Amino acid sequence: MKALVYHGPGERGWDSADDPTIIDPTDAVVRIDTSTICGTDLHILKGDVPETTPGTILGHEAVGTVVEVGASVTTVAPGDRVLLSCVSSCGRCRYCKEGRYGQCLGGGGWIFGHLINGLQAEYARVPFADNSVYKVPEELSDEQVLFLADILPTSFEVGVLNGKVAPGDTVAIVGAGPIGLAAILTAKLYTPGQIVAIDLADSRLEGARRFGADVAINNSHVDAVAAVMELTDGLGADVAFEAVGVPATFELATELIRPGGRVANIGVHGHPATLHLEKLWIRDVTITTGLVDTFSIPQLLRLIASGRLDPSVFATHRFSLEDTMAAYDTFADAANTGALKVVLQGAEAETLATSRAGALAAH
Ligand SMILES: NC(=O)c1ccc[n+]([C@@H]2O[C@H](COP(=O)([O-])OP(=O)(O)OC[C@H]3O[C@@H](n4cnc5c(N)ncnc54)[C@H](O)[C@@H]3O)[C@@H](O)[C@H]2O)c1
Ligand SMILES: [Zn+2]
Ligand SMILES: [Zn+2]
Repeated sequence: MKALVYHGPGERGWDSADDPTIIDPTDAVVRIDTSTICGTDLHILKGDVPETTPGTILGHEAVGTVVEVGASVTTVAPGDRVLLSCVSSCGRCRYCKEGRYGQCLGGGGWIFGHLINGLQAEYARVPFADNSVYKVPEELSDEQVLFLADILPTSFEVGVLNGKVAPGDTVAIVGAGPIGLAAILTAKLYTPGQIVAIDLADSRLEGARRFGADVAINNSHVDAVAAVMELTDGLGADVAFEAVGVPATFELATELIRPGGRVANIGVHGHPATLHLEKLWIRDVTITTGLVDTFSIPQLLRLIASGRLDPSVFATHRFSLEDTMAAYDTFADAANTGALKVVLQGAEAETLATSRAGALAAH
């Protein structure tokens, strides 16, 4: 088969690789129909994630079709269309039993395209298939559910739920990349009073408005703290999400909230940030951190099926799976291409999309 292989910092290739096979009885082998690229893949390519070794196939988000299952897999069978989550679950350890799959002690957690071969490939071996894949309802397209593999549950669980967004709240979101935008979509499920998006890039702030932000602040030339104070009668936001991953934006998030408010950190940080306890100790604040667990996938899937949530708006570019190299170039140059998420379609998925379009045209 062919796959996108990491060859060390700055190096990647669309290479021939061994076809995956069943190794453990809890495995499935899945044909990848639709996949995508994450900002985290770019971090790996920069060499920021040293535990990912050269030779690893990247990718941790996909929809595919089961082609083979191990002897102990009982809930999915060849032919099933499944969503592959960025987080796998052994189903047996203490954390998996608590629904904290991201912290799995039994060999799960974030493993695809990190510790084992990932999903930007024609086929993938999927460990712990019974606990880690989600059947896709027939009426939903791959693209409608693809972003449940990572960005939607990340922003919902680590942002909205950790930050306890409540009706009427002022929600300030620092960073309007795919994660910040997914936070806007999923915060709206709780009817906040206003959503304030903060970013350095006007193009990203335009996106934030399209996704439902009420106010967009460019903090390259506007004092975001003063602006949020003005919007909240001098109090500050009820909740702030950090959706960038650098010290300055974490510190900004802690300055934006009112006494009694919550900061939900979503960003992945590579450097220490200063915690201004000398200012915060007296303000009754709550600060949360988290790695996504994806326990909310079934809940978010129901919202998509009922038409109350439409993540397909993230798909700005489409490529054949075999053009994954070009897709990386487009995704990595988001400032010029406007890319939010690029959709990679396997040959089968492309044929299906064409025949669907043909069927529609015939009507
Ligand atoms: N916690 C988790 O489980 C989890 C899961 C997935 C992604 N993440 C992390 O979430 C973060 C956001 O992901 P993304 O894909 O949206 O990233 P992204 O790089 O596409 O977007 C980040 C945005 O932040 C903006 N930005 C940069 N510096 C800023 C500043 N000083 N002030 C305001 N805005 C600034 C950029 O203009 C950009 O629009 C990343 O750190 C990513 O690794 C965390
Ligand atoms: Zn990701
Ligand atoms: Zn586990």
